[in-house]
Amino acid sequence: MSIYDDIKKEKGYVTALAPMEGVTDSVFRQMVSKLGKPDLFFTEFLNVEGFCSKGRDKVVHRLDFEDLERPVVVQLWGNVPEYYAKTIDYVKELKPVGIDINMGCSVRDVLSSGRGSGLIKDKVLAREIISAVKESSGDLPVSVKTRLGYDELELEGWIGYLLKQNLDMLTIHGRLAKEGYSTPSRWDILKDCVNLRNEISPDTLILGNGDIKSFEQGTECVKKYSLDGFMVGRYILNDPWLFSQRKDISKEERILALKDHMNLYVNKFKDSKSYNSQKKYIKAYINNFDGAGELRQELLEVSDLESFFQILDSHSL
Ligand SMILES: Cc1cc2nc3c(=O)[nH]c(=O)nc-3n(C[C@H](O)[C@H](O)[C@H](O)COP(=O)(O)O)c2cc1C
Repeated sequence: MSIYDDIKKEKGYVTALAPMEGVTDSVFRQMVSKLGKPDLFFTEFLNVEGFCSKGRDKVVHRLDFEDLERPVVVQLWGNVPEYYAKTIDYVKELKPVGIDINMGCSVRDVLSSGRGSGLIKDKVLAREIISAVKESSGDLPVSVKTRLGYDELELEGWIGYLLKQNLDMLTIHGRLAKEGYSTPSRWDILKDCVNLRNEISPDTLILGNGDIKSFEQGTECVKKYSLDGFMVGRYILNDPWLFSQRKDISKEERILALKDHMNLYVNKFKDSKSYNSQKKYIKAYINNFDGAGELRQELLEVSDLESFFQILDSHSL
């Protein structure tokens, strides 16, 4: 039994914050943990070739997490099985609750290099990677996050193939690699994936992913498509309180949360991430109250942290 099974047993289903490169970094995960904690966090994806090269310093920050962000699953990507094994030797020391392999990224360069969902086209290599990860992970559960196929639906050929690898968990984003985000996520097909799982590998948990906008929508999908849980990505930026199920967030709470976020940023990333990189988070906190649009505009226009905090202070009680 993995920790994922334990969560499922205790709560009925598993909730997870999706890995999102450049978005769900340690600071934002800490904020989500404080505002409404999912059952699982995933790190942004870490490239194993980068980690095993001289450029390690440039990528290792993706393994940076605090206790608040636990239980955390480390997500890896790449196409060299030995590098997965080497990276995992290091990762194990950090005591994540699991290792996830990215076979779903559809960014053009990742795809064309045969990594991420490019691996859907090289099933033998995908199997070798899973087997290397399992061998080096020891007791840690191993999962894969993927899409429904490359340029056509491959229910048996891909999802069935993955299910034969005896994974602890499989997260399925209901689109094809080639679709990017151009079509709605196909949840009806996820039900077929669950039926296939029941035949091939009843112990593998399946999380559904794609376009979930609220906690309620997530639990409805779990019920309707007989899933073991759901993962939320982009819409956490509309509502960082999403996993708390609270709808009554006051203006004051929102302003305090943005201040908290920026303080965490200053303490952790000020020297490695630009102040401008934080502007994408303003809308996440500052919305849904009278004057939110004007306050956002004011915040977007300032170019230094001191003025940013001054504006927030002037709007706090
Ligand atoms: C900015 C951005 C970065 C992402 N980075 C990752 C990543 O590092 N690893 C991964 O498996 N998926 C990544 N994804 C995909 C998401 O985890 C998720 O599968 C996808 O956005 C669909 O879910 P959603 O509709 O809830 O956003 C990323 C998506 C976005 C928008």
